[in-house]
Amino acid sequence: MTSCFSFFTSLLFFLLTISDSLFMQINGLSFGINYGQVGNNLPSPSRVAVLIRSMNVTRIKLYDADPNVLHAFSQSNVEFVIGIGNEHLQNMTNLSKAQIWIQHHVLPYLSQTKIISINVGNEVFNSNDTQLILNLFPSMQNVHNALVNLGLDKLISVTTAHSFNILENSYPPSYGSFKQDLMQYIQPIVEFLDEINSPFLINAYPFFAYKDNPNEVSLNYALFQPNQGLVDPNTNLHYDNMLYAQIDAVYAAINAIGYTNVEVKVSETGWPSNGDSDEIGATPQNAKLYNGNLLRRIEEKQGTPAKPLVPIDVYVFALFNEDLKPGPASERNYGLYYPNGSPVYNIGLQGYLPQMVVPSKSKVLSFNFLVCIVTCLTFTWELSGS
Ligand SMILES: *[C@@H]1O[C@H](CO)[C@@H](O)[C@H](O)[C@H]1NC(C)=O
Ligand SMILES: *[C@@H]1O[C@H](CO)[C@@H](O)[C@H](O)[C@H]1NC(C)=O
Ligand SMILES: *[C@@H]1O[C@H](CO)[C@@H](O)[C@H](O)[C@H]1NC(C)=O
Ligand SMILES: *[C@@H]1O[C@H](CO)[C@@H](O)[C@H](O)[C@H]1NC(C)=O
Repeated sequence: MTSCFSFFTSLLFFLLTISDSLFMQINGLSFGINYGQVGNNLPSPSRVAVLIRSMNVTRIKLYDADPNVLHAFSQSNVEFVIGIGNEHLQNMTNLSKAQIWIQHHVLPYLSQTKIISINVGNEVFNSNDTQLILNLFPSMQNVHNALVNLGLDKLISVTTAHSFNILENSYPPSYGSFKQDLMQYIQPIVEFLDEINSPFLINAYPFFAYKDNPNEVSLNYALFQPNQGLVDPNTNLHYDNMLYAQIDAVYAAINAIGYTNVEVKVSETGWPSNGDSDEIGATPQNAKLYNGNLLRRIEEKQGTPAKPLVPIDVYVFALFNEDLKPGPASERNYGLYYPNGSPVYNIGLQGYLPQMVVPSKSKVLSFNFLVCIVTCLTFTWELSGS
């Protein structure tokens, strides 16, 4: 039969194309990545699903709950953090609307796609929108309560991602504290996270600190390169990189308001490979060093100096360069990959993006071919995965 023939052709093609790299990647380094889609030239989710499988990515964070993405990853082992955008928070303050949202955006995919967490809002305290800020906590409660009502709260956690700007002090790390005027909003959220055993998410970018102060901030310290490091005078802990100091500053801020059991995770970090002329440090070399060194730290399952037994939990920003992101040029240059699937720089992630299926007279055949490649990948994945 044709499909059998094409299966073996695909297998051969697949082996020739990806060589043995895939076989060495299984069971290894596992990291999360942010899959943003603010672009007009991004590959389809089904092609991205192949790319993701060829990297060592095991967790994806979305800024929405794009049904095409959730569908493309059905039957995969990838775990998803999905997002409820800020524009939906007004509705989420109504429990029955929160429940309807979950019934429409989560339930239909749950049997095929692993959805492990819902981020309610993104960097809400960075907006100057008081109503949005007031809506955040009730929205988180409602989304959680809706999950409880549906019997899904043990499967799916609820949290929100914060900008690093919510900190008043971040150095030395042990002096970390939240901004005074935000305390009234942050306190109940942290109490809630503690109660439901959910992590506190922070978007942390040593790049911003370096860019704002290139003469005082050590580039090597920001990039995880060899450097003297800094000692926290309060704890005597030694920091050899800025990201760990930032994470520990958040732990300190949480401790300062009375909570010791809430885990801090990094919902975004990364380094742009390009930027405007005033964005010092945004180069492919620095981005390669930052992300390459970061992956090595993740692979070593390191904790931070203040939490040495808790391996850092990180979602890299981002999978692709996104050409429609507003703001300075750096915003459009955080990707590990160009939209055509070629790596922006080489950090040893031999990702493979399959060719686009071009509509033609052999459309059906090409589609079969793609299906075969995917099947092959699944097959080898499961074979080697154990
Ligand atoms: C995937 O993980 C394995 C084991 O840790 C590692 O040897 C390999 O280099 C990783 N592959 C990529 C592409 O990072
Ligand atoms: C809020 O809910 C209403 C009615 O349920 C719906 O029509 C509207 O589109 C929702 N708004 C957003 C931004 O999702
Ligand atoms: C909450 O949403 C439901 C369903 O859309 C609607 O019937 C109800 O009136 C809303 N409640 C409030 C207080 O707005
Ligand atoms: C919020 O207001 C502050 C101070 O007025 C300003 O610096 C900041 O840029 C504003 N942020 C946004 C997202 O508008």
